Amino acid sequence: MAYEHIIAEKRGRVGLITLNRPKAMNALCSQLIDELGNALDTFEADTEVGAIVLTGSEKAFAAGADIKEMESKDFNEVYATDFITGTWEKAANCRKPVIAAVAGYALGGGCELAMMCDFIIAGENAKFGQPEITIGTIPGAGGTQRLTRAVGKAKAMEMCLTGRIMCAEEAERSGLVTRIVPVDELVENAIETADKIAKLSMPVVMMAKESVNKAFETTLKEGVMFERRVFHSTFALEDRKEGMAAFAEKRSPNFQNK
Ligand code: CAA
Repeated sequence: MAYEHIIAEKRGRVGLITLNRPKAMNALCSQLIDELGNALDTFEADTEVGAIVLTGSEKAFAAGADIKEMESKDFNEVYATDFITGTWEKAANCRKPVIAAVAGYALGGGCELAMMCDFIIAGENAKFGQPEITIGTIPGAGGTQRLTRAVGKAKAMEMCLTGRIMCAEEAERSGLVTRIVPVDELVENAIETADKIAKLSMPVVMMAKESVNKAFETTLKEGVMFERRVFHSTFALEDRKEGMAAFAEKRSPNFQNK
């Protein structure tokens, strides 16, 4: 598939996807979302890719769903086509780790897309918000749920009810982003982090991701039991043996992803 609104490239074992629709602040039109889904599927299937970085421009990660495209839609259409479901959710459903590197605006669907990723690294100028209420609608790609889990009810409620934008410092303080870095170092910083992950054992990385995500979907007791069983199952892997042997022998491990 040829891409018009994104750039997908490989940096070693890292798949880098750059949203590239500068005239519209990377607004997430259906074509962009289809291209993004295709790129994510391609990197998921590529055994040479161990982790993915999703980024935008220095000005905008993404300013939300494309309002001009949505404007003419009616209830029958969005309900019948189940607008958002399936297409947008590819980022949330990836089994490989996906890091969002966010500079500039991450608003509406842009903030939601970033929150679908496993964690967010923010540039100093990052701005997060769910301004849908100001255009007569509400977040539709998980914003009311993921923002609330990330920053708690008080801030999420205020942001969803008023459309207030959160700066990078507040986002870090509130637990929405893992750290803040200078904008011109953002993408390289995210790639370095992704590369560290990509050099580890892929099945174990996927198990760790699945286990952390379980914390959002179940009780503590069931979550701990899930983790325990997955931990036990790492003992069936050659990479677990190799990792522990390498530690004992004071050398670097040579993981085979099995
Ligand atoms: N959809 C479509 N076009 C958009 C857009 C969007 N979400 N955001 C920006 N654009 C377009 C603008 O219309 C403008 O296009 P033209 O040059 O053709 O007029 C271009 O991008 C540049 O934008 P601005 O001139 O507005 O730039 P600015 O620097 O003055 O402001 C901004 C930047 C604060 C991000 C402002 O563009 C803005 O408020 N955008 C909309 C943000 C928003 O409401 N997002 C939520 C969308 S709804 C949603 O996402 C639903 C969901 O949950 C799935």
